[in-house]
Amino acid sequence: MSTFNSKQKLIIFDTTLRDGEQSPGVTLNTEEKIEIARQLSRLGVDIIEAGFPVASPGDFNAVQRIAREVGPLMEGRDGLQPMVICGLARSVEKDIQTAYEAIKDAPRHRIHVFLATSDIHLEHKLKITREQCKARIAEMVRFAKSLCDDIEFSPEDAGRSDPEFLCEALAVAIEAGATTLNIPDTVGYTTPQEYGALIKHLCQNTGGADKVVFSTHCHNDLGLATANTLAGISNGARQVEVTINGIGERAGNTSLEEVVMNVHTHPDAYPVYHTINTRLFYSTSRMVEDLSGMAVQANKAIVGRNAFLHESGIHQDGVLKNKQTYEIIRPEDVGVTTGNLALGKHSGRHAFKTKLEELGYGGAALSDAQFQAAFAKFKDLADSKKTGVTDGDMHALVADVRSSSMAGGSSQSVTPAPPATAAAAAAAEEAISNDEAAAARYTLKHMQVFTGVGVTPTATVTLHDAQQGIELVDVAIAKNGPIEATYSAIQRIVGIDIELLNFSISATSSGQDTLGKVSVRIARSGGADSPVGSGQEEDSAALASYGSVPKFSGVAANVDIIAASANAYLTAVNRLVSHDEANNRASHKQRNVEI
Ligand code: KIV
Ligand code: ZN
Repeated sequence: MSTFNSKQKLIIFDTTLRDGEQSPGVTLNTEEKIEIARQLSRLGVDIIEAGFPVASPGDFNAVQRIAREVGPLMEGRDGLQPMVICGLARSVEKDIQTAYEAIKDAPRHRIHVFLATSDIHLEHKLKITREQCKARIAEMVRFAKSLCDDIEFSPEDAGRSDPEFLCEALAVAIEAGATTLNIPDTVGYTTPQEYGALIKHLCQNTGGADKVVFSTHCHNDLGLATANTLAGISNGARQVEVTINGIGERAGNTSLEEVVMNVHTHPDAYPVYHTINTRLFYSTSRMVEDLSGMAVQANKAIVGRNAFLHESGIHQDGVLKNKQTYEIIRPEDVGVTTGNLALGKHSGRHAFKTKLEELGYGGAALSDAQFQAAFAKFKDLADSKKTGVTDGDMHALVADVRSSSMAGGSSQSVTPAPPATAAAAAAAEEAISNDEAAAARYTLKHMQVFTGVGVTPTATVTLHDAQQGIELVDVAIAKNGPIEATYSAIQRIVGIDIELLNFSISATSSGQDTLGKVSVRIARSGGADSPVGSGQEEDSAALASYGSVPKFSGVAANVDIIAASANAYLTAVNRLVSHDEANNRASHKQRNVEI
């Protein structure tokens, strides 16, 4: 952390769970969102945009639970206040009221209202004039202010809006009660010079600008999100809207870790300081990677797997003589451990816990049950691995136990159409939230795979079905290898046609006894092709499709890569099954309420 009295604090507004979740292919369930929110709180994030509550009852439920369960948390927040929980709303009364209901139980909460201001959006999307736009901003910000003190307003597509009209629109928002003005470069169009100049112009020419905080919100379509955000800071912005790993719509949002490490590394270059615990960056990045299913590219700044590796002999020689020859950031400052002292089969609970803490999984990062499960897996692995359990293995073990311990959870994005009455909505939420606490339905009891060159791969799988209390066995052959055979056998047992959307496998260390870490993402066959949109227009079809793609992920690690593949798949299948059951209960309860 860096603190300089002469400087102003940079407010970190994380939108991983809202704009980040709008990444193609990303669908987080409520339990996963809560887990990420807790981690962001520990990291020292100031404000979290927990979701878009009006989008679906599932979204509402996730934001409300984050407000209630994460909003009050203080772990890792020495010297900071509780994290502000924010909900997004279009400039529509129903959205704003719903956002407020979702966030109001957090000790500190904010409503984020947006309305487009560029001529292209006004003319073609909203079909309103500039005057009507200003009138709607005044009315909706005033309405939000009647519910909540802390109001953020965003003129969507500000990067392509007329700066003079922006000044007028923002002055209206301030007059109506906005306390933060966020300036989105929605389509990632501006250059750093343009974006910096825009922030400066708005700070200097908007009536009442001295009463509010200006914020950046940049998209990465031209690879300039971090540069644009830093230009914004240099020109007067004191809040930045960012996501972990830079995930988000299209090419993504500004990456939190990149902005913070720029400010950290160049304390004299920017007029701000930050209060983020940078040592949690690597573990936070891994968590978001695993839960979102969005792989971090190896050469990504700060958190990529290669970010601190030195391959060439000249560089290695330099680093051995003095790390500063080729390192501008100390790896340990962002939670990357390079010494990589492996734990062995004689390491006990204490050494295991200490190592977890060193890797960024200290405090309440793992529940007791998760810790016990991780330790048991560690012991098995340490027994079989002669070279010791590496840091990469440890990250994979954590991902595995977190993923499987949430296998009873459900994807929030496939909740049925918003219920007609408040009572029906409550019933649906209760059914879904009860379901999320449920244990995984299927566990792998036995698996035998026959494969080779010139033979037909065959898999025999036995699953325990906790609901029926019986073991189910089936066998499948496949043209395309042992994993296809295994997945087919599982599908036959659970009786669902499943599409495998993503499959990735990576080694967690070097050597032939490395763990294979498998991440999968699945959907019901034919169920994953609906478009995702987030229109400002009051078009219910566009809103209904917001985050509506039903996808489920699973992660597992094992020295046997077919076993890892089976377990990762089964975790995802359990989520799908659990989600379907919750939706059935929800619609059943809804019918009861309506009758
Ligand atoms: O990019 C954007 O314009 C947004 C707004 C909703 C703030 O995400
Ligand atoms: Zn955005």
